[in-house]
Amino acid sequence: TILILDFGSQYSHLITRRIREAGVYCELLPCTQKIKDLDFVPKGIILSGSPYSITDQDAPHVDPAIFELNIPILGICYGLQEICYVFGNNSTELARKSEYGFAKLEINDLAEIPHANALFESVEKSTQVWMSHGDHLDTIPEGFRVIATTESSAYAAIVSETRPVYAIQFHPEVTHSIEGKTVLRNFAINICACSANWTMDSFIDKEIERIRAIVGETGSVVGAVSGGVDSTVAAVLMKRAIGDRFHAVLVDNGVMRLNECEQVKETLGSQLGINLRVVDASDIFLGKLKGVTDPEKKRKIIGNTFIEVFETESHKIDEECKNSGAGKIEFLLQGTLYPDVIESISFKGPSATIKSHHNVGGLLEDMRLNLIEPLRELFKDEVRALGTLLGISDELVWRHPFPGPGIAIRILGEVTPDQVRIARHADYIYIEEIKKAGLYRKISQAFAALLPVRSVGVMGDMRTYEQVIALRAVETTDFMTADWFEFPASVLKRISSRIINEVEGVNRIVYDVSSKPPSTIEWE
Ligand code: XMP
Repeated sequence: TILILDFGSQYSHLITRRIREAGVYCELLPCTQKIKDLDFVPKGIILSGSPYSITDQDAPHVDPAIFELNIPILGICYGLQEICYVFGNNSTELARKSEYGFAKLEINDLAEIPHANALFESVEKSTQVWMSHGDHLDTIPEGFRVIATTESSAYAAIVSETRPVYAIQFHPEVTHSIEGKTVLRNFAINICACSANWTMDSFIDKEIERIRAIVGETGSVVGAVSGGVDSTVAAVLMKRAIGDRFHAVLVDNGVMRLNECEQVKETLGSQLGINLRVVDASDIFLGKLKGVTDPEKKRKIIGNTFIEVFETESHKIDEECKNSGAGKIEFLLQGTLYPDVIESISFKGPSATIKSHHNVGGLLEDMRLNLIEPLRELFKDEVRALGTLLGISDELVWRHPFPGPGIAIRILGEVTPDQVRIARHADYIYIEEIKKAGLYRKISQAFAALLPVRSVGVMGDMRTYEQVIALRAVETTDFMTADWFEFPASVLKRISSRIINEVEGVNRIVYDVSSKPPSTIEWE
């Protein structure tokens, strides 16, 4: 394992991604992490960049114990400053000269120091890197040597003469640093001697063992599934680990997609053999949504009602388990992914309190369930790879994300059964045509939104006065920023004419050409 200590840089999670891509398991923890509190022994440590400068009064520093472990250390950007600070007897002499953008990195050959060249092994002698920093070094600590320079920084990469401590000014984790991946792989595999054995194959066996050890011989687990990839993958892992002692619950909230409930029953229940029960609560949800038009109120109603329904069902399952002699429900499955974990543990500055991990909103508090999160170490693409290995269909594995509040937040204004019918049908046709055009995997998320406005149209000889469907399709990697998707006009034409002809109540289609920011992906 490589330990990445986060000083709050916007790129910290990318370091984690790159090391994982090299097949090496790593964990990101805040820079304030105490070495004595670690529950694993790292083979190497990476210090991230930071919005701070080492010269700031409140500049963050790592636990000095990391330098006594005698394992390889790599400092990146602020991490370089931190290494110079520590090895230069806490001196903070820096030149204030910011540098952003591309630079040519020129690598020196330091044959006389055995470990010096390992970081840039197989890297071109002159290679493009990405710089983004406010300070650079004017001097380096005694006992360090320069292994690379750029035009504006004489100390773009340095190494200790006596131990495998490296520090670089550029960001190898961003794709603009063309050979950055090689640099990080060199560090993890050649310098730290980590094995490249972090594969989803090995993950499955280890995770199943871990789940069995946690749950024990008798305990049972309850978890909500939605038909999305995360909850399905988590459910299949549970099924493999403890069979029918895992109880999956699908809450039909009345605002899922067309035929979705039946589909989930078929795939999770029949095909994947998961012990699944479906609770039809659509009347309860739609009843509570009656007359409500405020987006936030809709979200709250759906969230709270979901908790009520899920809790009631969990208590029922618990009773049944106890009566049948099976173990009581002791755990709650959550499909938390690594980005959520990072978000809650990453370094937010010395004064900011670190958010407590994952808010389950008091779900099932009275049952005192323990959380079980089999995906908490994984990124989304790793979950997809895992899903494929677990035999889940491509269709499900590559499904676009779907928000918890469902199409209720894609029906602007009041959510009535008839509005649900229109929004569902239009969305179904839209997605069907996107798939037919072979564009589904190119688009990160697509959906139809139903607008509460009517416009005049003409159909045959008749005047119509009906509603508008807005089509949304975006491309994004992280859903924090997104660009609207450039459809071929012919595809839009077909979608538009099909929806208008087939969906009663719609006579106009518009395409949403707003990016995020300033718009959001969803309309509410
Ligand atoms: P926005 O609209 O904020 O959406 O740009 C970003 C991503 O988050 C999804 N989303 C949700 N997912 N519960 C969810 O599980 C929610 O309440 C929710 N709201 C938005 C949205 O679909 C998009 O993928």
